[in-house]
Amino acid sequence: MTDIKLLFCVGLAVVLTGVGKSAFIGKSHSGGKDDPVLQYVVNNSLREHPVLTKLRLRTLEDQWSIMMVASEQAQFMANLIRLINATKAIEIGMYTGYNTLSMALAMPENGKVVACEIEDTYVNIAKPFFKEAGVEDKIDVRHDIAMKTLDALIGAGEAGTYDFVFIDADKFNYDRYYEKSLELIRRGGIIAIDNVLWSGRVVNPDPSDLTSQGLDALNKKLHKDQRIDLSMLIVGDGLTIAIKR
Ligand SMILES: C[S@@+](CC[C@H](N)C(=O)[O-])C[C@H]1O[C@@H](n2cnc3c(N)ncnc32)[C@H](O)[C@@H]1O
Repeated sequence: MTDIKLLFCVGLAVVLTGVGKSAFIGKSHSGGKDDPVLQYVVNNSLREHPVLTKLRLRTLEDQWSIMMVASEQAQFMANLIRLINATKAIEIGMYTGYNTLSMALAMPENGKVVACEIEDTYVNIAKPFFKEAGVEDKIDVRHDIAMKTLDALIGAGEAGTYDFVFIDADKFNYDRYYEKSLELIRRGGIIAIDNVLWSGRVVNPDPSDLTSQGLDALNKKLHKDQRIDLSMLIVGDGLTIAIKR
């Protein structure tokens, strides 16, 4: 076989098998907006509560809407909440409240979500939607630095009592949020960690990119961590599900 034919055959095999192509797509409202497979997934599986739809559309008007959780990911986490019959959850980094509202809607009447958010603008956007959906009593918004809220919950004797934690605030503190979350959840409880792929930048992170390096270090730590069982999913910007042993 001539070199040029060999090159062609190898090239075709790479295209047909997808080898060398990343499976990373991103969120349906940002990086994956034009991806036909992801849009198919959303069109054929998303069951969005009408108030969640309104909140998503309102959030898309915000200049930082890329921060919003992907709706397909929020629905997946709401289903995990149903699966483990969660009644106590924490959201670390609420933003405009899409995932907090989604979790509250998935919980029974006695369910409670503690939502940590530092920015008043976002708290003010979120609250009317919680009221409109009729779940404001289930949501305890802690307008403060997340670490302070987590310490306060531990100080109030709530260690080992939470069923589900979603970590989605400043990446710099992710490892500390993870350790606090492990303290706060019960055995069999779930810690969901967002942005673990960081748009793919965790793969061979640039030496000057401290955020990607930090996330990569946390991913590697969790891989070896015998306190949990885990899966790392290519959903949204990458989602790790850690189940406390
Ligand atoms: C990626 S967004 C969260 C998105 C949200 N989980 C959702 O469902 O759409 C991160 C949020 O964390 C908040 N945040 C960042 N650092 C924080 C801190 N130290 N304490 C509390 N909130 C923080 C930011 O203001 C921002 O709204």
